[in-house]
Amino acid sequence: MRVGILTAGGDCPGLNAVIRAAARRLMTHGHEPIGLRRGYRGLAEHDWIELDQRSVSGILHLGGTIVGTSNYNPFREEQGVEKVLSQQTQDPLDAVIAIGGEHTMMITRRVQEELGIPVVGVPKTIDNDVTHTDYTFGFDTAVQIATDAIDRLHTTAQSHDRVMILEVMGRNTGWIAVYAGIAGGADAILIPELELTVEEISAAIARRHERGKDFSIIVVAEGAQLAFESGDRRQIRTSDDVDQYGYPRLGGIGTALAVELEERTGYETRVTSLGHVQRGGTPTATDRMLATRYGAKAADLVMAGETGRMVALHGTEMTSVPLGQVEGIKTIDLRYLELARTFFG
Ligand code: F6P
Repeated sequence: MRVGILTAGGDCPGLNAVIRAAARRLMTHGHEPIGLRRGYRGLAEHDWIELDQRSVSGILHLGGTIVGTSNYNPFREEQGVEKVLSQQTQDPLDAVIAIGGEHTMMITRRVQEELGIPVVGVPKTIDNDVTHTDYTFGFDTAVQIATDAIDRLHTTAQSHDRVMILEVMGRNTGWIAVYAGIAGGADAILIPELELTVEEISAAIARRHERGKDFSIIVVAEGAQLAFESGDRRQIRTSDDVDQYGYPRLGGIGTALAVELEERTGYETRVTSLGHVQRGGTPTATDRMLATRYGAKAADLVMAGETGRMVALHGTEMTSVPLGQVEGIKTIDLRYLELARTFFG
């Protein structure tokens, strides 16, 4: 079989580990893996690279993706569908393994259902918001990076008696904020799933200071709302633009929150926004392991003809679910936030 492997949407640590595992598994069984460059664009424009033993060697620990990525959606691009179908007629692939987030999974399902190309999806994103799988690879690395940042902020916060706000990614979910916040010992965590007002956070900081603590660490997810007791609330965006998927471009809540808290508490407040640092660099061992299991499983499904599915982690079990089930976003189980609250204030 000749099997195309592509990465689509935003990158995250572990993509190369999936590519390596899927390609090696396919080669071991005598099949031919092909790298499709820049997501579905590579399929539409026949932009292929050979994936042989040599090209997938030495990439396990590398961040980014050796085949590149993009948000190209053949169902949206002019002539996108026609291009894919014409390439399939001229130089067909037997299957495609598509590594991406929730939108890529929806496109991938349509590629099999509407264009007749057998597909298997692999869920990636630092946000951990893909449904029907417990964890996406990339998430653990982002949490580790954010936790390291909290540890570093702690020492400088302590030296200067400051309130430190760390803004993390996660789009419309608080997975990164809550996990890193618990692991780093945050004094308050703000997430999109549960509202916490500026007044409540100010009161928590004041309580800490009354107990003799002169500094506080607050973790805020980019998608959290700036909310007030008055009922006034807003989501902070970097611009009025939306991205290709219609998502608002989030960012800036940390700075907006700092102004409000400083005004109410009188404590000097500083902001760090981690941004794309959370998506870069080498994946953690946990993400390499998960990505490797996902990649091998995706190849196994293709070889078994069990396509139209997304590989999934359920507990410790590597399994798969029909792509048709994968929609919407997976928000965080609020019991994690409840755990974090034990340590607030
Ligand atoms: O989905 C991953 C993610 O990093 C989000 O956490 C963030 O909101 C978004 O992508 C940023 O997208 P871009 O790379 O297009 O700025």
